[in-house]
Amino acid sequence: MQNETITSGGVTAVEIKPVVSAPLKQRLYDWANSRLGLDEILHFAAKKTVPEHKHSLWYYWGGISLFFFIVQCFTGVLLLIYYRPGPDAYESVRKITYEIHFGWLIRSAHSWAANLMVAAVFVHMFSAGLMKAYRNPREFTWWSGLALLMLTLLFGFSGYLLPWDNLSYFATKVGLEIPNSLPLVGPKVAELAKGGPEVSEFTLQRFFALHVVVCPALFLPILVFHLWLVTKHGNATPPSEESVPVAKRKTIPFFPNFLMKDLAMWLITLNVLALCASLFPWQLDQAADPLKPAPLGIHPEWYYMSQFQVLKIFGNWFPGAAGEVVGMTVFTLGLVLWTLLPLYDNSSKNGKRARRGTYFIFLVIIIYTGTTLWGYAAL
Ligand code: HEM
Repeated sequence: MQNETITSGGVTAVEIKPVVSAPLKQRLYDWANSRLGLDEILHFAAKKTVPEHKHSLWYYWGGISLFFFIVQCFTGVLLLIYYRPGPDAYESVRKITYEIHFGWLIRSAHSWAANLMVAAVFVHMFSAGLMKAYRNPREFTWWSGLALLMLTLLFGFSGYLLPWDNLSYFATKVGLEIPNSLPLVGPKVAELAKGGPEVSEFTLQRFFALHVVVCPALFLPILVFHLWLVTKHGNATPPSEESVPVAKRKTIPFFPNFLMKDLAMWLITLNVLALCASLFPWQLDQAADPLKPAPLGIHPEWYYMSQFQVLKIFGNWFPGAAGEVVGMTVFTLGLVLWTLLPLYDNSSKNGKRARRGTYFIFLVIIIYTGTTLWGYAAL
């Protein structure tokens, strides 16, 4: 705004007007925008829409899995400040749990979030499957998701041993006996994982490297690929909605509407996590003692219980190592079929293959849940 000169009755005066510039928020935005192209990103986000229908709730589970992963990274780095792999592992976790201020809470949040993340990823996978979100053009979204699931399970398996308490020691020992009983490569794989014939501090060192270096280094680029594909193809419309004429289908803008709902889900998830972690603090058993006999009813984490029980069932049906071989073969076949599902059920029509695809997903859910419960009942 410029100052103005006013002349009246031969007297000249200058009216001084205040210098008004754009508000600070706007100037900051303009500064960042000219460097990062924020307008284009916001324009893209506002143009992107998300289908709105009676199954929309399932669109939030990928985001919830992502939230747990962020919590894992944050709490994991905090744990690393005091955790020491090697002979002091147990003592360092004992200190974190009982001596360091709020150490118990960080450890409890990390362990709870690990379990809740696995559960969220399963819900996300099964719901994406039932909504047929694996069909053309989302095959790679499905396959990259499967890689993320495998890595999530490996994060869980490798992290479980790190406290080096009795429970984690014997559960890992049981878990590593599975590859050991397979012919030819089995014992080699088991020895490679253990770093010797027995679960020892070498195993702990290897699991630590897997947990904090290998898994994150593989997980992050695959996650970026997965999310990029979701952005590229948008959210799939489930078959039940495909019969609705396009003009009548409802959508909401991704930004800000869907994002705000997603963030609200994160807030609810954070509350659930805070309640679990503070009301049911994660326990620490006695220090691992390899010379002691394994505690009765030792079993792997709940998300490996199904595989554990399937191997047990086949072990009862076939003598010796044959049971484990048959069990592992059946399990691997199931996994191959699960991976190939997008290639089989690839038509967007509700034909025979679509129906079989849906039955297959329900069958997997029933077998997984059933054998998990059976495993606990048989302990
Ligand atoms: C840690 C693991 C994972 C994370 C963080 C993650 C994250 C996400 C996010 C944020 C979305 C978009 C929102 C949504 O539709 O839910 C998404 C979509 C998707 N994810 Fe995942 N995901 C993971 C694992 C998986 C797994 C295990 C599968 C299946 C094998 C999978 C398959 C898909 C598919 C097919 C979509 C597209 C859904 C649609 O178009 O509606 N994801 N994922």
